[in-house]
Amino acid sequence: MLETQGVGVRFGGLQALSDVNVRIEPGEIVGLIGPNGAGKTTLFNVISGLVRPTSGAVRFRGQDITGLPPHRIAQMGIGRTFQVPRLFARLSSMENVLLGSLFRTRSSGSWQTRRGAEREARQALEFVGLEERGHYLASREPTGRRKLLELAMVIAARPQVLLLDEPMAGLNPGEVKSAMHLIRRLRDERGVAIFWVEHVMDAVMGTADRVIVLDRGSKIAEGPPAAVVENPAVQEAYLGERWMGYAPSARREVAP
Ligand SMILES: Nc1ncnc2c1ncn2[C@@H]1O[C@H](COP(=O)(O)OP(=O)(O)OP(=O)(O)O)[C@@H](O)[C@H]1O
Ligand SMILES: [Mg+2]
Repeated sequence: MLETQGVGVRFGGLQALSDVNVRIEPGEIVGLIGPNGAGKTTLFNVISGLVRPTSGAVRFRGQDITGLPPHRIAQMGIGRTFQVPRLFARLSSMENVLLGSLFRTRSSGSWQTRRGAEREARQALEFVGLEERGHYLASREPTGRRKLLELAMVIAARPQVLLLDEPMAGLNPGEVKSAMHLIRRLRDERGVAIFWVEHVMDAVMGTADRVIVLDRGSKIAEGPPAAVVENPAVQEAYLGERWMGYAPSARREVAP
């Protein structure tokens, strides 16, 4: 249902992506891994409309969405989170999530009444386990909760596909476990297809149905987690990096 066809992105002299073809089917959990700077976030930026590809196309449910503005793409049902959570710092947690549910449009369901949007927002907060935190200021919450809050904000808009950019970064081992459980529940209970960038290898390898590996802008491997780990090209790409366990991004995300 979501597909990139020969996507290339050039930033000045840097070829950030070359001829990338990926496909996400309904109900799938697909991991996207690769060393720092491989182009993972850039691929998400292309799909969500923040970066226009130099070549190639993005298709969603049979429609060419290449180059559409980000809000149009989000309204069509593609949600995303960021490496560093993007929230409205001066609003409460509940108000943040409410913005997500108010964003939902006719195309994805019924036109929201204020009460309907509030119900949806409460459900999303409950889904991530933050129902008791609704009245707290978003900016005062610690990293783990800010990430959950951003997730609640995005799912309140009822996406069909969710792009998660390093949801586990900065979480402690207990939080990683519950985030893995949440990702599975998103698929199982809400039918959301998940495309997921992660450096916490045991989390993504233990949850994803399929894994895609990017290295220096190109797709070098794709398949079930067990087969991808064994792939010599993948092991080569990860040489010198911590392969299993917790290896958060060394660099900050580059703003598009
Ligand atoms: N807007 C931009 N302008 C110029 N260069 C960019 C831009 N966005 C990304 N890049 C560069 O493109 C390359 C790919 O970056 P990207 O953020 O997609 O990597 P990544 O795989 O997400 O890495 P990480 O795991 O560290 O988050 C990097 O060399 C980065 O510096
Ligand atoms: Mg990134």
